[in-house]
Amino acid sequence: MTGAIVITTPAELRDRYQLGASVGLVPTMGSLHEGHLSLIRRAAAENDLAVVSAFVNPTQFNDPFDLARYPRSLERDVELATSAGANLVYAPEVATVYPAGFATRVHVDRITELWEGESRPGHFDAVATVVSILLNQVRPDRAYFGEKDFQQLAMIRQMHRDLAVPGEIVACPTVREPDGLAMSSRNARLSEGERAVAPVLYEALRAMDEAARGGERSSLKLAILGALIVKRALEIELEYLQVVNPETVEPLEVAIPGARAIVAATIGDTRLIDNLELLSGES
Ligand code: PAJ
Repeated sequence: MTGAIVITTPAELRDRYQLGASVGLVPTMGSLHEGHLSLIRRAAAENDLAVVSAFVNPTQFNDPFDLARYPRSLERDVELATSAGANLVYAPEVATVYPAGFATRVHVDRITELWEGESRPGHFDAVATVVSILLNQVRPDRAYFGEKDFQQLAMIRQMHRDLAVPGEIVACPTVREPDGLAMSSRNARLSEGERAVAPVLYEALRAMDEAARGGERSSLKLAILGALIVKRALEIELEYLQVVNPETVEPLEVAIPGARAIVAATIGDTRLIDNLELLSGES
């Protein structure tokens, strides 16, 4: 297997493009795990050229300490990306993404005011801005994002539609550990005890889905049911647990098929998020 080639500028990247060949982009902040690799496999299967961007975007961290301790491992990432079928790894310098004098911010209204937006001021603007830049630099036919970060995905879809960005946004299902915990680079920060209770978030989401399938369609009652399950683990501090509209992420009073249950909670120092489609396959 020949390794993916590491590229640091958009011009070099596009030198590698061939006329008529389709390009799939998987934007990441590196530190790749199985969740990222599932996106890369899909991009490789659906495009002639699979590009993985690995860029730890400094502007989307609220806490400088969080940015400083974000794991960086380009060599390992290139190996993993290659094993999943990536052809190119785009790892730009900060100044290639934000050249001197950079002064633009992309802001998506409404979606960004809720949930993650409330607890992480400016975070979504930073993500919308960097994703816009990456899409313009790489110019993919398809860009792949995980449902794991459901609100981020909803915002990117809105931004993509509103700004008439070329290409397609492709949503990919959440990859989980065998016990249900959604894969995340943050999971490595959990102590053994914290890791043992973390799957309760997915357990709560699944219980909500089961209750909805059993006929309970009140979002409030479903949320209370889920919260009671999360609160069994005393170490967990629940931030929100809600049933929302999958496009706008606004709260829904009644759980309809396709509604999304979303959750955020802190275990020790680690904040985790997860979500689940309710009543999938039902009408
Ligand atoms: P990062 O956290 O590295 O995630 C990169 C992509 O992988 C995102 O689309 C995310 O939703 C997806 N992902 C993460 N864990 C996943 C899992 N368990 N299953 C499926 N997909 C998963 O999200 C970001 O980076 C950044 O905000 C970025 C979009 C790159 C902008 O900087």
